[in-house]
Amino acid sequence: MYPFPVFLFLTILCLLGSTADAIGVNWGTMSSHPLPPPKVVELLKSSEVSKVKLFDADPLVLQALSGSNIVVTLGIPNSMLKTLNSSRKAAESWVHDNVTRYFSHGGAGVRIEYVAVGDEPFLQSYGDQFHPFVIGAAMNIQAALTKANLGGEVKVVVPCSFDTFVSESGRPSKGHFRTDLNKTMIELLTFLSKHHSPLFVTISPFISFQQNKNISLDFSLFKENARHHNDSHRTYKNSFDLSYDTLVSALSKIGFPEIDIVVARIGWPTDGAANATSSIAETFMKGLIDHLHSKTGTPLRRRNPPIETFMFSLLDEDHRSITSGNFERHWGVFTFDGQAKYHFNFGQGTKNLVNAQFVEYLAPKWWLLFQYQLAQ
Ligand SMILES: *[C@@H]1O[C@H](CO)[C@@H](O)[C@H](O)[C@H]1NC(C)=O
Ligand SMILES: *[C@@H]1O[C@H](CO)[C@@H](O)[C@H](O)[C@H]1NC(C)=O
Ligand SMILES: *[C@@H]1O[C@H](CO)[C@@H](O)[C@H](O)[C@H]1NC(C)=O
Ligand SMILES: *[C@@H]1O[C@H](CO)[C@@H](O)[C@H](O)[C@H]1NC(C)=O
Ligand SMILES: *[C@@H]1O[C@H](CO)[C@@H](O)[C@H](O)[C@H]1NC(C)=O
Ligand SMILES: *[C@@H]1O[C@H](CO)[C@@H](O)[C@H](O)[C@H]1NC(C)=O
Repeated sequence: MYPFPVFLFLTILCLLGSTADAIGVNWGTMSSHPLPPPKVVELLKSSEVSKVKLFDADPLVLQALSGSNIVVTLGIPNSMLKTLNSSRKAAESWVHDNVTRYFSHGGAGVRIEYVAVGDEPFLQSYGDQFHPFVIGAAMNIQAALTKANLGGEVKVVVPCSFDTFVSESGRPSKGHFRTDLNKTMIELLTFLSKHHSPLFVTISPFISFQQNKNISLDFSLFKENARHHNDSHRTYKNSFDLSYDTLVSALSKIGFPEIDIVVARIGWPTDGAANATSSIAETFMKGLIDHLHSKTGTPLRRRNPPIETFMFSLLDEDHRSITSGNFERHWGVFTFDGQAKYHFNFGQGTKNLVNAQFVEYLAPKWWLLFQYQLAQ
């Protein structure tokens, strides 16, 4: 199944402290040569990543995570939403096969915390393909979890894309949800509030930088010397806060000013676009981690910063769609085969490097063939 044994040297920084559990990573598998899941779990452990967000519920991945103590968000692909909306039975089967079977009640098994219904199903570029089925599917999954006596332990969430909320003027106080989503967002937030579940959302300083000439690179990278943005009496020192508060304004406008927010996806790619380099990605990630650890919150939410943040992404994925750009295949902190692209610390604290070495070696001719294929 995984034809290429891989030879790896990994340079991974340690992570310390109680804040560690608030930072996780997305683990996607849209790769022509995915690392065997047990190797990825080793990689997560040596990076001291305590939470992982998946895009599906692959049995081999769940087996590898079993007993690891890593807290898991399972994903439901967009292609299943229609069926899960129309069939309570299908939702029950999904929960039985993919949650109940693996769920850990403190012992072995998988520590499943969230089920993410759809993968950014509200992306504007999808049109109405998935959006009408999302809330129904989420409700059916919730009902199935409750029926399986897991309703209190596993929360149902819906990952919302960066383009679900906007501010035409660029001012955070003018933030609102996309008007075609008015009704859906109210339904979603009502559902989430009722079950004490957080809002999962992508914040993308990289896309903001690409799309908005007002957003400078320094402002995107949390640089001290960046030119601030003012919004009446509030001062914004970085692009993350600006986007976050645009979302907070959108939430307030429809009556949910206090809902917990999880940043489900945030990162900086290392290739495929201007300013997508390893060195800039490193600066961004370090700036973001420092900012999250500083616990200063944002101008509109001083006391309620994101409760969790999932970096995007663990590994490069060469099967990701490149309709929005070649950079889509270069979000990994690690290359597809698990080599660190830059020095990055999922937490803060120790500056010591830990080198993890995987023990499988690749026969040289396979390696050459592999590289040859990559070059095609
Ligand atoms: C979702 O499922 C419900 C219940 O079966 C159905 O009434 C509704 O039409 C479905 N929604 C869409 C958009 O198909
Ligand atoms: C469980 O999840 C896997 C992977 O996402 C999927 O292929 C399978 O259909 C799911 N099981 C059910 C009963 O839906
Ligand atoms: C860009 O900045 C100008 C001047 O500050 C402002 O008038 C304009 O609305 C901003 N546009 C966006 C899209 O942020
Ligand atoms: C969405 O909300 C905006 C602002 O409140 C309003 O102007 C617009 O008409 C609404 N659109 C829909 C489809 O409800
Ligand atoms: C923002 O406001 C501060 C103080 O109110 C001011 O010093 C600064 O020049 C303003 N920045 C911009 C870009 O308008
Ligand atoms: C960012 O990209 C632009 C356009 O390619 C380039 O002019 C600029 O030097 C880049 N900045 C950095 C810091 O790499």
